[in-house]
Amino acid sequence: MVEEVLAAPASRSKRAVRGLSAGSRPRRLTEISEDVEERLLLPIEEFARVLGGGVVPGSVVLVSGDPGIGKSTLLLQTALEIARSNPVLYVSGEESERQIKMRALRLLHTSDGDPLNMPEDLYLVTETNLNAILEHVTEIKPRLLIVDSIQTTTMPELESSAGSVSQVRESASRLRELAKSSGISVLLIGHVTKEGSIAGPRVLEHIVDTVLYLEGDRFQTYRLLRSVKNRFGATSEVGVFEMGERGMSEITNPSEAFLAERMVNAPGSAIAVTMEGTRPLLVEIQGLTSQTSFGNPRRTPNGIDFNRLLLIVAVLTRRFGLRLGEQDVFVNVVGGLKVSEPAADLAIAAAIASSSRDVPVRADTVLIGEIGLSGELRMVNRMPARLREAAKLGFKTAIVPRRMRRGEQWPDNIRITEARSLRQALDGALMGETEA
Ligand code: TYD
Ligand code: MG
Repeated sequence: MVEEVLAAPASRSKRAVRGLSAGSRPRRLTEISEDVEERLLLPIEEFARVLGGGVVPGSVVLVSGDPGIGKSTLLLQTALEIARSNPVLYVSGEESERQIKMRALRLLHTSDGDPLNMPEDLYLVTETNLNAILEHVTEIKPRLLIVDSIQTTTMPELESSAGSVSQVRESASRLRELAKSSGISVLLIGHVTKEGSIAGPRVLEHIVDTVLYLEGDRFQTYRLLRSVKNRFGATSEVGVFEMGERGMSEITNPSEAFLAERMVNAPGSAIAVTMEGTRPLLVEIQGLTSQTSFGNPRRTPNGIDFNRLLLIVAVLTRRFGLRLGEQDVFVNVVGGLKVSEPAADLAIAAAIASSSRDVPVRADTVLIGEIGLSGELRMVNRMPARLREAAKLGFKTAIVPRRMRRGEQWPDNIRITEARSLRQALDGALMGETEA
């Protein structure tokens, strides 16, 4: 429970009357112009695609994620690029101006390591008081305002402490009013916090126009920028980045990157094709089974859901005859990726079966399909796109569920093996004992 201090009634009623813009007037739908707003173009393409092309003027975008995942880095990089043609104000409540300058110097390099010059129009201020921030905005009139982070921003007229639900929500509402009335685009950074302590981005989701999550494993280099709400574009679009010495760089061909370190012909590895937004992604799933040394056998998923793993292990035991009752089972999605789609079931099952039998999965084969409780293989959506991506990366065979409807055009540059059941699919996928 968090105590909420209400704002003074005067300011509330004033806002309610004022609405989003000063003089509102109902208009006929037919009178309203449908011209697309001119978006502020982002030079970082992977970022732009997640936003649906660029930042819409007057919109508020929340970029959230775990502390240390790279939010400040990504937004500072964006600011440095945009400031070459438009004024940008970067407000930080977390780091000193010098710290940010040092980081900017590090980020300002071409991909070959040559230094780039500083953009003229990037303004920096360390400030947590929202009223002061609004004054700076009036003075500088930026096209883009970045606030790092919403949890450090406070309104002194509220009594609660920085980061509390009421502070975070009121500050965000004020910034939204600013955005809507002035046409300035606002990017907010929000930390995902441990439950209970302070207010996380969840309380902001209905206030802002777009919510992006930056995710990834801190110990891995890949970062995924995912859109979970977007009033100006598709949701569930994904941008892929790599965190390096010089900040975040875009990965335009993620499937290739995720498969780079793969050991061909090693048991316990299978390739799944998952959809991230509209984009198919090939990922390596690793499985390992090993004799339980004492007590209950353990089931340890990394990158997939625990209950999904239990289900797959149960089906493998009952319908495929694997004896996993006294085996620990580990599953890992390579690259720190999280896969929640049932379409990866078959590859997970194959990775486990391959490790348990100690025979590799055929190296040039991808596995796609959802597993049902009776051991049947179920069709998944977007099959043509998945198959095209697999073929593009040089895979020769795809093991997929049996097609019930034959409407869609499937690519013909990859051999397709249709399987009705998990057993059929695994018999096709695992190399024979003699071959291996
Ligand atoms: P940061 O953007 O500060 O994370 P957040 O704002 O989400 O809390 O980035 C944190 C980590 O990223 C930090 O541990 C250092 C690392 N990093 C790099 O690896 N390369 C870089 O170029 C930069 C700027 C940071
Ligand atoms: Mg930060």
